[in-house]
Amino acid sequence: MTPQSGILPPANGHALFTMFRRRLGRRADARLKSLLASVAERIELLQRDDSQVSVVIAFGPHIWPELYASKPALLRDFPSISGAIHPAPTSDVDVLLHLRGERYDLLHEFADQLSADMAEWLEVIETVHGFRYRDSRDLTGFVDGTENPEGDERAEVALLGEGEWAGGSYIHLQRYVHRMEQWKKLHVRQQEAVMGRTKESNEELADDDRPHTSHISRVIIEENGEELAMLRHSMPYGQPGGEKGLYFISYCKTPVIFEKMLTRMVAPTSDGRVDHLLNFTRAVTGGAFFAPSLEKLSQLQK
Ligand code: HEM
Repeated sequence: MTPQSGILPPANGHALFTMFRRRLGRRADARLKSLLASVAERIELLQRDDSQVSVVIAFGPHIWPELYASKPALLRDFPSISGAIHPAPTSDVDVLLHLRGERYDLLHEFADQLSADMAEWLEVIETVHGFRYRDSRDLTGFVDGTENPEGDERAEVALLGEGEWAGGSYIHLQRYVHRMEQWKKLHVRQQEAVMGRTKESNEELADDDRPHTSHISRVIIEENGEELAMLRHSMPYGQPGGEKGLYFISYCKTPVIFEKMLTRMVAPTSDGRVDHLLNFTRAVTGGAFFAPSLEKLSQLQK
């Protein structure tokens, strides 16, 4: 089974994230299904202009039954986490289009055309341009993505290996808005304690120097001697002088890993602690999706 083109390749200079919701009273019919399936061929045409351009189209749990007769076993709503002291909101969304590449003009053209073609059924809730900031840093100034899996491990972590939905991937996304003014008031040492890594040299703080409340400490979870892993394609976004932050997105063969990490960030479930990064940023959207393999996507055309 072949994964969609935007899942495994390394990070790009630009991304475009578009979230859609079903229009009231509209159901996915044969015409919409064939438009959704056409995404794979449309991207191949665009790859003539930028060989690095790639795409993922993914569907949430509510539209899923209108598209396929069966469902990936663990496809479910974005988690509502009990005991959370930092809000992790859930958005009412059905379809995610995640485009990546080196030329933003092509991503714009692709998303604009597809949104227009699907407008009868789906309305755009939000479109966000993600960009590489310096050497792949988040706007907080810290390099993001360092501990992402590499080589063959990317597929092992991100894709279902077997069964009907092999080659597919569970996706979670959250748009975070940073409180940059508060963040800038911290000394670099304090920022490093919040993140759990050094800023310039991008090294993990030694265990003794790394607070249990640092971001890294919350998301490094060991089970049966192994660290839980996900593939992140998060990108900075925003307007100079306006709202800005991180568009977080993860791909994984199971939704459980994101759910566990987010729980450790927002809810003092086991050890009474939460992620101190959340004093400087907050999530304003949340969505859960599944990206079917190319073979499953093309089935929609029938
Ligand atoms: C505003 C939100 C966030 C920011 C600014 C942020 C930033 C960072 C940074 C700078 C790193 C260190 C470099 C790296 O390994 O990538 C990191 C690591 C990581 N983050 Fe986040 N992150 C955010 C949200 C999240 C969320 C919501 C999750 C999962 C629920 C998450 C999971 C991870 C994981 C798994 C690592 C790698 C840990 C390791 O193995 O060392 N992050 N993040």
